Amino acid sequence: MSELWIANPGELATPTGTVPLAGPRQGDVSRLRGVDVLCREGRIAAIGPPREIAQLAGAETERFDARGGALVPGFVDPHTHLPWAGSRAGEFAERLAGRSYQDIAAAGGGILSTVRATRQAGGDELTANVTRRLDRMLAWGTTTAEAKSGYGLALEPERKQLEALAAAAAAHPVEVVPTLLAAHETPPELRGDTDRYVELVCSEIVPAIARAGLAAYCDVFCETGVFSVSQSRRVLAAGAAHGLAARLHADEFVDSGGAELAAEIGAVTADHLMAVSPRGIDALAASGVIAGLLPGTSFFLKKKAYAPARRLIEAGVPVTLATDCNPGSSHTESMPMVFWLAVLELDMSVGEALTAMTLNAACSLGRGAELGSIEVGKQADLVVLEGAGLDDLAYHFGVHPISAVIKRGAVAFRKSPRACG
Ligand code: NIG
Ligand code: FE
Repeated sequence: MSELWIANPGELATPTGTVPLAGPRQGDVSRLRGVDVLCREGRIAAIGPPREIAQLAGAETERFDARGGALVPGFVDPHTHLPWAGSRAGEFAERLAGRSYQDIAAAGGGILSTVRATRQAGGDELTANVTRRLDRMLAWGTTTAEAKSGYGLALEPERKQLEALAAAAAAHPVEVVPTLLAAHETPPELRGDTDRYVELVCSEIVPAIARAGLAAYCDVFCETGVFSVSQSRRVLAAGAAHGLAARLHADEFVDSGGAELAAEIGAVTADHLMAVSPRGIDALAASGVIAGLLPGTSFFLKKKAYAPARRLIEAGVPVTLATDCNPGSSHTESMPMVFWLAVLELDMSVGEALTAMTLNAACSLGRGAELGSIEVGKQADLVVLEGAGLDDLAYHFGVHPISAVIKRGAVAFRKSPRACG
């Protein structure tokens, strides 16, 4: 029987429950001191004073000394784009010189430049790229992540991306939930005929990927100039008909009615929302759709406007936070970076931000019963912070703030004590 006793932690900070927390409850985080945690067979078996845990522990129990570092749930990153090849560092330099993301995309760069590189890459190269990104995610506290295709834009290259994702995930501690994002852009060979591509996505790509069991969700980039509301509705309906629940890129740059579409079809999440309208917020609140906020994107695109996190929370919409890790608009694997942006730019409290990147994120992936909080019975996915409390995570920004990551009750990442945090 495998057992891990996490001894000497600082604060244990966690949301509780199995459903998304919204409104005033979004920031409800339990903060305990003086408790140790016992993990057994990959689950949390007990939380209590050290002498109680000592009585439960067996002779074989491995003891992990947290050395006063706070415990929080493993981070769940519910929106990433991991399987891609190539680099857009040159485009990034152009953006720093003043060219806009949309101008670069309109000239055939942007997503399409990553599509060219990804179509050319072999499956092994893509798998190695995903593995490198998962390694970095784990070291920064992520224990579960959603990841999308979307740089293939035809059946075979989309399949290649999702197979690479599955291959990397099968050999990695980070759990991966795959999403089909074939409707990320119109492929170059169909440029100017988006309707034909939508037809192809609905009749060929969605059914084949669903049949192969390579995706759990279907996503679409619903944005003026990319996929319209009616095209997005068709893609997501095809996904639903094949058992793929909907999540969508909505109202990222302009208010395109994406939030309203998410509400109308009962999508699980509407993500981005930098340009969501008051009507869109009301629609989300009335329908129970989760809002996925990606402040790394506003930051990396040098946007002055961030998504209206406060208005969403005040309207009662449950909020998640994610990296949006991708080569163009948010090149980071770091959930702590997202946490810093959430508290400093989205005006979220530390409790609201923690819930957003743990319990609410787990619920948005259908895993709220298993993941997202430190409670007896849940899977033992935990982060040991360097600081003694959750507030220290907010207070000390830009550093690597994690001393260890525990996945399914085993130490999956441990920073050498001499490494510079
Ligand atoms: O989530 N909005 C669309 N897709 C990505 C960006 C992809 C890219 O630039 O490669 C996003 O921001
Ligand atoms: Fe995205």
